[in-house]
Amino acid sequence: MPGTEHGLIPPHGGKLNPREVGGDAAKALADKAKSLPQRQLNSRELSDLELLANGGFSPIDGFMTAPQYESVVESMHLPDGLPWSIPVTLSASKEQAKSFQGEIALTDSSGTPLAVMTVTDTFGYDKTIEAEKVFRTIEDKHPGVAALYAQDEMLVGGPVHVFKRPSNPTFPEYRLDPAQTRAAFVERGWKRVVGFQTRNPVHRAHEYIQKAALEITDGLLLHPLVGDTKSDDIPADVRMECYRVLLDGYYPKDRVLLSVLPAAMRYAGPREAIFHAIMRKNYGCSHFIVGRDHAGVGSYYGTYDAQLIFDEFDPQKLGITPLFFEHTFFCKKCEGMASTKTCPHSPDDRISLSGTQVREFLTQGIEPPHEFSRPEVARVLIAAERAKANAGG
Ligand code: ADX
Repeated sequence: MPGTEHGLIPPHGGKLNPREVGGDAAKALADKAKSLPQRQLNSRELSDLELLANGGFSPIDGFMTAPQYESVVESMHLPDGLPWSIPVTLSASKEQAKSFQGEIALTDSSGTPLAVMTVTDTFGYDKTIEAEKVFRTIEDKHPGVAALYAQDEMLVGGPVHVFKRPSNPTFPEYRLDPAQTRAAFVERGWKRVVGFQTRNPVHRAHEYIQKAALEITDGLLLHPLVGDTKSDDIPADVRMECYRVLLDGYYPKDRVLLSVLPAAMRYAGPREAIFHAIMRKNYGCSHFIVGRDHAGVGSYYGTYDAQLIFDEFDPQKLGITPLFFEHTFFCKKCEGMASTKTCPHSPDDRISLSGTQVREFLTQGIEPPHEFSRPEVARVLIAAERAKANAGG
């Protein structure tokens, strides 16, 4: 069977479908792109293009066509029945849509062409329906809904061929493609690999659930998302520094791979948990951690909605196995991390942890206490906060 070499999980749809071309074909496409109508990508779309290029979005081959879009929005599956929960779209104004017939060039913000897209479909769409189905709310206070409402009124779909990756990527040394993480797992002899998604600075609850998952797997892919996040989220470079100091002090080197996911956050809670899991499957993970309010924002989703949604999928088709964790906290009586499944003490003995609370400490200039963060991590966070304050940010 394709993709099962060395006992790793096959990619979604059976094989990786990286849309990047190299060599002479890339040169020919770059030449052709100069004379094509251009569509400049915003940073979320650039993230999507990178994931199409590197195979993270396998098996899809481009921005979604009308049948794909409608099937994904309505049923969380591609037309062929494969699970896919988040639309991957490219919008266009009505005028653009008219001129975008056949091939177009996709460019970065400076106008440098990166890819040629064969537009097979231009179609209208209902943003309210997408918001309701994908985000479970139509409120524009929700950051994902706001981004959707800001899009143009038409969508264009079709396959892409990427001849140049977005330039100056952040964390190049940690930016491994799915084929590279897979090769790294094989080299280390890992078969059962658990993926961990995060957009927050690491706190004790993260460490606890990562290590609990590592107890039953061969290795851990620490996979922070480094595409667009909300402006009040901690910047990715600070989060990466937190991971480096934590790994140095508290994790066995041969059991963890730190790499970054170039995706942008949608904050779609349950639907995004499925999306996050599918991408990690492509990166070679057999298991995926889903804790409390995964990919949530504000109080739009119930604490465990992102776990319950997995019941709506055929586990065989999804392939990757979710590992669910209760809301974990530090218990003063247990003197360690626990959840209501493992701790009998009263709520007064418990210190509840979340990225939001860590951010609150920091904005007040307080170093998060050891129940929240390892001291090495707390020091990185507080130094970053001071630097921001000194810079007037
Ligand atoms: S997320 O938007 O990427 O989900 P975050 O980085 O805070 O946000 O969370 C990463 C993962 O850790 C998610 O699966 C989340 O559900 C889980 N998580 C975060 N805090 C806790 C906690 N206190 N208890 C259990 N799981 C948690």
